[in-house]
Amino acid sequence: MDTHNRKANFSSKFGLRIIFSIAILLIFIEISSSKHLGVHGDEHLETMVKRADNHGIDELGEMGAEEWGMVGKKGNQFVVNSQPYYFNGFNTYWLMVFAVDQTSKGKVSEVFQQASAVGLTVCRTWAFNDGQWRALQKSPSVYDEDVFKALDFVLSEAKKYKIRLILSLTNNWEAYGGKSQYVKWGKAAGLNLTSDDDFFSHPTLQSYYKAHVKAIFLSLIVSSQTVLTRVNTYTNVTYKDDPTIFAWELMNEPRCTSDPSGDKLQAWIQEMAVYVKSIDPNHLLEIGLEGFYGPSKPDRAQFNPNTYATQVGTDFIRNHQALGVDFASVHIYADSWISQTISDAHLKFVKSWMQAHIDDAENTLEMPVVFAEFGVSVKDNGYNSSFRDTFMSTVYKILLDSTRKGGSGSGSLLWQLFPEGTDYMDDGYAIVLSKSPSVSDIISLQSTRLMLFNSKCSWKCQWGCKKKNAQETFLYHDDL
Ligand SMILES: *[C@@H]1O[C@H](CO)[C@@H](O)[C@H](O)[C@H]1NC(C)=O
Ligand SMILES: *[C@@H]1O[C@H](CO)[C@@H](O)[C@H](O)[C@H]1NC(C)=O
Ligand SMILES: *[C@@H]1O[C@H](CO)[C@@H](O)[C@H](O)[C@H]1NC(C)=O
Repeated sequence: MDTHNRKANFSSKFGLRIIFSIAILLIFIEISSSKHLGVHGDEHLETMVKRADNHGIDELGEMGAEEWGMVGKKGNQFVVNSQPYYFNGFNTYWLMVFAVDQTSKGKVSEVFQQASAVGLTVCRTWAFNDGQWRALQKSPSVYDEDVFKALDFVLSEAKKYKIRLILSLTNNWEAYGGKSQYVKWGKAAGLNLTSDDDFFSHPTLQSYYKAHVKAIFLSLIVSSQTVLTRVNTYTNVTYKDDPTIFAWELMNEPRCTSDPSGDKLQAWIQEMAVYVKSIDPNHLLEIGLEGFYGPSKPDRAQFNPNTYATQVGTDFIRNHQALGVDFASVHIYADSWISQTISDAHLKFVKSWMQAHIDDAENTLEMPVVFAEFGVSVKDNGYNSSFRDTFMSTVYKILLDSTRKGGSGSGSLLWQLFPEGTDYMDDGYAIVLSKSPSVSDIISLQSTRLMLFNSKCSWKCQWGCKKKNAQETFLYHDDL
């Protein structure tokens, strides 16, 4: 049942209202008696936070003692084993490519190890590399098994560190191939293509994309004409059944500027979302959008970072209403969208941009929303690390305000986490935890808060999930 409906039914029934009042009373007594004993709720939490700091977040995670279950969705929340699941996560896009070589493979394990030490539990990464150096897809439907095995390794290592993956299937941009590579392949096959946006609309390029989706799940052994379900060569788990996969992403930051009406991209999303779900109904799916408001909701355009954002062929509300899309994604780049010079306007934008999307996810889309990329570049004018700290804390705080209410604000993925020795690939946004103690602390605190929230939900639900409203009130008043 949808949590919104449950809320409505709940408050309309007088008998339940009485139970609700009693629950509130019990909680009140619980809080005041613990105050009396000098273990106020907040202090108790602070003690736990400190304990987590001293002994590592792993131990705290054990409290939740969660099985490695598949991530699902219930109304506007993610759930694992029927319990709410709010998370703190990160991006590291190059894992598969690094996992190909013995010499660089260790970096994959290293970044997972460092991430898990600060409580990060979800990583977004690329499950594509189209036609480039170390390509997964060398040409349409031709795969390099060594690179596929590298993706297997990434999944296997992620599970070892209790990290789930959001896997993106291609790129809007040229890095790692993406839509321009599909167009090059189409041209090489003799198609008359005039724009990279033909990727979205040309039936042959659509069929290439679909074949890629299929290849991820089924490894096509051409010689013997046998189609097998892809089994991870490290874990023996089929991709379809692996809870390590949090979700699939259709494309990193799709834009279709050739059609500002948004119709062309909408049609592609509709077709591909249903297609991915038909191949893998077990995992969640998101689009990969940056979150710009488009023509379907002119009154929301005021929240866009600039007027150009309305014209890139994307439409946050309409796109996410496509059948098969389970949750919303939003990116946050005040520096590249507003001004390369840091100012308070950036923080103001972050607040209103996030709040608008949380409100829409909650009230209009009725789905979880993930802030799937956010960061500050050291190349921005006026950059200093204290601004980055403030920026990150701001993002985390806005999310937490939604989490506390059991709302749609379900998680964030910082852009981007690097282990030491990979700085040469840094685009300015990379965070190396060992070199940024203040960022590590900010991340750890957020992770701890979310873990406590998730665990609390589990405990409270043991009295029966009907008392959800009481639980929300408790969590809201309890200043985590
Ligand atoms: C290729 O397509 C464009 C635009 O659709 C058209 O103007 C052009 O005549 C086509 N060229 C060929 C060789 O078919
Ligand atoms: C995977 O299956 C193979 C063949 O059945 C077996 O030899 C291997 O030990 C299994 N690996 C794991 C991790 O279960
Ligand atoms: C850091 O940068 C921000 C924004 O540019 C500025 O307001 C602040 O004064 C700077 N702080 C330090 C310690 O330099």
